[in-house]
Amino acid sequence: MGHGPSEPSAWVRRFADWIPARGAVLDLAAGGGRHTRFLMGRGHPVLAVDRDVAGLADLRADPAVTIIASDLEDGRPWPFGDQRFAGVVVTNYLHRPLLPAIVAAVAPSGCLIYETFAVGNERLGKPSNPDFLLRPGELLEAVRGRLTVLAYENLEVTDPRQAVIQRIAAVSAGERL
Ligand SMILES: C[S@@+](CC[C@H](N)C(=O)[O-])C[C@H]1O[C@@H](n2cnc3c(N)ncnc32)[C@H](O)[C@@H]1O
Repeated sequence: MGHGPSEPSAWVRRFADWIPARGAVLDLAAGGGRHTRFLMGRGHPVLAVDRDVAGLADLRADPAVTIIASDLEDGRPWPFGDQRFAGVVVTNYLHRPLLPAIVAAVAPSGCLIYETFAVGNERLGKPSNPDFLLRPGELLEAVRGRLTVLAYENLEVTDPRQAVIQRIAAVSAGERL
């Protein structure tokens, strides 16, 4: 992933160029905002969402970011309606019922960058609850027929710690493909 918990993930850095310049990005379950900050630094307006936005407090006054405190798992409908984003970034977060809405939130020519823990991680540590672990091919399945896959991996990594992860970068049909 990155070289530390606050560094942007190497996967996000690798595919960030696929997010159309200056396009709006959704950072879902943004946490401390490592990707919010990274993508703001690249000139994107970012919508950062988390149920706990304390880690984003220092960004509150920045006009380039919109911070939304929202529990994404409380059974209410997807909070962004039919809003579409040039980039959708999700890392180290999984709530399976959201996968279709996450994929649908990618604008034409936009890019989805998703990376989180996968089955097998339970041998190594947390998360070990199957609800939080992607099944083999699950991200491929989620984008099938909707987005074009740039890259997909399901593997054991050692950086920043030993973990089994699955990750995908996929783009919506547009003039660049
Ligand atoms: C492991 S952190 C990942 C943060 C960030 N994406 C990153 O990779 O640095 C998981 C995040 O998911 C958020 N989260 C967990 N359950 C949530 C929920 N029901 N609604 C919104 N956010 C949630 C947590 O608050 C936490 O910030």
